[in-house]
Amino acid sequence: MAMYFGCFRARSTFFVWLLLLLQPFSLLKAQQVSDGFAPESGSSPSSQAANTKGDSSSQVAQEFMVVAAHPEASRAGYEVLAKGGNAIDAMVAVQTVLGLVEPQSSGLGGGAFLLYYDARQGRLTTFDGRETAPQQVPDDIFLGPDQTPMQFFDAVVGGRSVGTPGTVKLLSDVHARFGSQNWGALLAPAIGLASDGFTVTPRLANAVAKDADFLQRDTETSNYFFPEGRPIKEGQTLTNLPYAKTLGLLAKKGGDAFYEEENARLISRKVMSSANPGYLSVKDFADYRIIEREAVCSAYHQYEVCGMGPPSSGAISVNQTLGILASFSLQGKAPEAASTWQLVAEASRLAFADRGLYLADPEFVSPPEGLLAPGYLLKRAALITKGKAAAQVSPGQPSQDSVHYVEGVSPSQASTTHFVIVDRQGNIVSMTSTIENGFGSRLMVNGFLLNNELTDFSFAAKNENGLIANRVQPGKRPRSSMAPTIVFKRTIDKKRAPFLALGSPGGSRIINYVANSLIRILDWDYSLQQAFNAPHIVNRFGVMDLESGSTAEQLASDFKQMGYETNVRGLNSGLHGIKFDENGMIGAADRRREGLVMGR
Ligand code: GLY
Repeated sequence: MAMYFGCFRARSTFFVWLLLLLQPFSLLKAQQVSDGFAPESGSSPSSQAANTKGDSSSQVAQEFMVVAAHPEASRAGYEVLAKGGNAIDAMVAVQTVLGLVEPQSSGLGGGAFLLYYDARQGRLTTFDGRETAPQQVPDDIFLGPDQTPMQFFDAVVGGRSVGTPGTVKLLSDVHARFGSQNWGALLAPAIGLASDGFTVTPRLANAVAKDADFLQRDTETSNYFFPEGRPIKEGQTLTNLPYAKTLGLLAKKGGDAFYEEENARLISRKVMSSANPGYLSVKDFADYRIIEREAVCSAYHQYEVCGMGPPSSGAISVNQTLGILASFSLQGKAPEAASTWQLVAEASRLAFADRGLYLADPEFVSPPEGLLAPGYLLKRAALITKGKAAAQVSPGQPSQDSVHYVEGVSPSQASTTHFVIVDRQGNIVSMTSTIENGFGSRLMVNGFLLNNELTDFSFAAKNENGLIANRVQPGKRPRSSMAPTIVFKRTIDKKRAPFLALGSPGGSRIINYVANSLIRILDWDYSLQQAFNAPHIVNRFGVMDLESGSTAEQLASDFKQMGYETNVRGLNSGLHGIKFDENGMIGAADRRREGLVMGR
């Protein structure tokens, strides 16, 4: 199995190694507090409704294509591509429109990970636009007076949870390097929609209604989502003049203006003066950097599956799951049988156990060597008993000198969005973007919401067994589950050709939504849309989550017989992707959300 790890530069790992050496695995748990929370509320009023949509969520094109979570965003990207812009140009237009029309999921106040494939050079690279913890942050920021972890929403709502936003710098730095169109012109679609108004979708209206309490704590947020005290409604035309003004400033002065005096001071003041104050300072903005990292890639059958390395756990966990399953030849197994999904579930549990213990910001904590080594994954696969739930799943020891951290406690709830763009030259953007929880911290500044990304850290820095890898530290990036992915197929002349690009929102279940879609496509030859439509069956820490209203519910008794606790629930993915074949590009959008495929 080929592996390409990014530049894991550990800053302060030595003392951590000493402190954490030989922690007893029996005391460790892989589950985060966050993972107990439901994914983002306020998807379409019901996934059943989304499931009755026609097949318009799938489309074929030859020249270029864009798939995003909102029709206005797809349209903005399409127009840029149609006028000769490239995938990076379209990315700027798509993201700035999403920040307006899908404000609960991503935006100027958040962070993102980008996979970018440069077709001319045949080169894949990744950009880390993750938020950073403020320099002044204390390590007990999410502990209450009794030194126990705070309730999730006590931590989330207000300035406490806000990290330095990375999305604007990601857009502007990458555009400066690869873009071909005028930066300011790419912001025009979002400025136009913000000034003239856009139509509120059912998903946004539903999300606002469900979050009324938190959204009305901040005056600017409340005035925007509850004009005259009433929640915005589906079908209503909504303008956002402060958003238009902010983008107007960025159009004129460039993306770096976001990180400079006036804007930085305004955000910092808001964070520090909110009812639940945080620590973000003007200096945090001045210090913020985008980090280019090598993609993390692993072989799976004749494919190479590439994604985002730490601080995201996405690619390592997806590729561990697939690598463990390589021992079980899923191609020959009944696709939707309980016996097959039991193997996937156990592979996922093993991957989540390693994730919980080892993965964090690589600038602070180096992941151990060998997490994706074939020999290690073979050993992990040997722990799986067919037809039987493991009573307990523990992290492994991928290398002799594996550092043993202790498992953290970190709530993470899904907001987040994923989009994919392919331009005429064949360049590919696969980007997952987030403000963390639905509506982030609920603090609004100049027409956009601020993230609550710091709650993706462990709430506690240590426990009785030692320090936690994903603990809060100044300047550190919280661990993510976002898994923007590009899959290559090896050609006869041993070159690699893009085969597929996809990703999803969904909190830590992103890993499962992506891995399970890859299994359905790469092992069972499902079309992209079939893979996205298929019922979700997710197991991270032992409980078998089965998508309500789907055929997965019928497997509950089989799973119970195997020893699993089952939980029938909504599983709110937002898978968006593009697949390449001899007919061109085939795009697909998850019917559980409101996305649109557009191409030519
Ligand atoms: N905040 C979602 C994630 O980064 O996984």
